[in-house]
Amino acid sequence: MKNSKKFVIFLVLISLFVFSASFANAEETSEKKFKLGDYIKTADFKVEKHIPVLSMPAKVKAGELFEIKADIGKVIPHPNTPDHFISWIQFFYKPADGKFLVDLGKCYFASHSESLKPEVPGIASTEPFCSMKVKLAKSGTIFAVSYCKGHGLWETSQEIIVE
Ligand SMILES: [Fe+2]
Repeated sequence: MKNSKKFVIFLVLISLFVFSASFANAEETSEKKFKLGDYIKTADFKVEKHIPVLSMPAKVKAGELFEIKADIGKVIPHPNTPDHFISWIQFFYKPADGKFLVDLGKCYFASHSESLKPEVPGIASTEPFCSMKVKLAKSGTIFAVSYCKGHGLWETSQEIIVE
């Protein structure tokens, strides 16, 4: 009888230990939640080949059509091979007085000298350059985000004044 009581107490203690351990794990897991922004890197394009280099006016008139360009590898060339390439560049706009981003558009780069024979380079290659024409009503910030197949997401941004 004494042994069965000890066994029940032992089971209760084990249950409490397992319950508290799983609760601690749940807390630990919730603390480890990552956000996409944790994986979007930035740097100076003069020393980092993945950064989109933005070319755009600093000031435009409201409703005036202007061009935004993003070039990757302008200073340090980025590889463009079937194994390592830039997949896309996307532009976003955030009005200075707004809470949300506006998706302006995206360029996909779909050919990287792929070939049926790995020893022979393919016949087409698309370079990571994106350009589009935009009209804005308010001042804000233009973001360019790029995605490298091997090295993830990269961003740069520039403010624009709209008069
Ligand atoms: Fe890369």
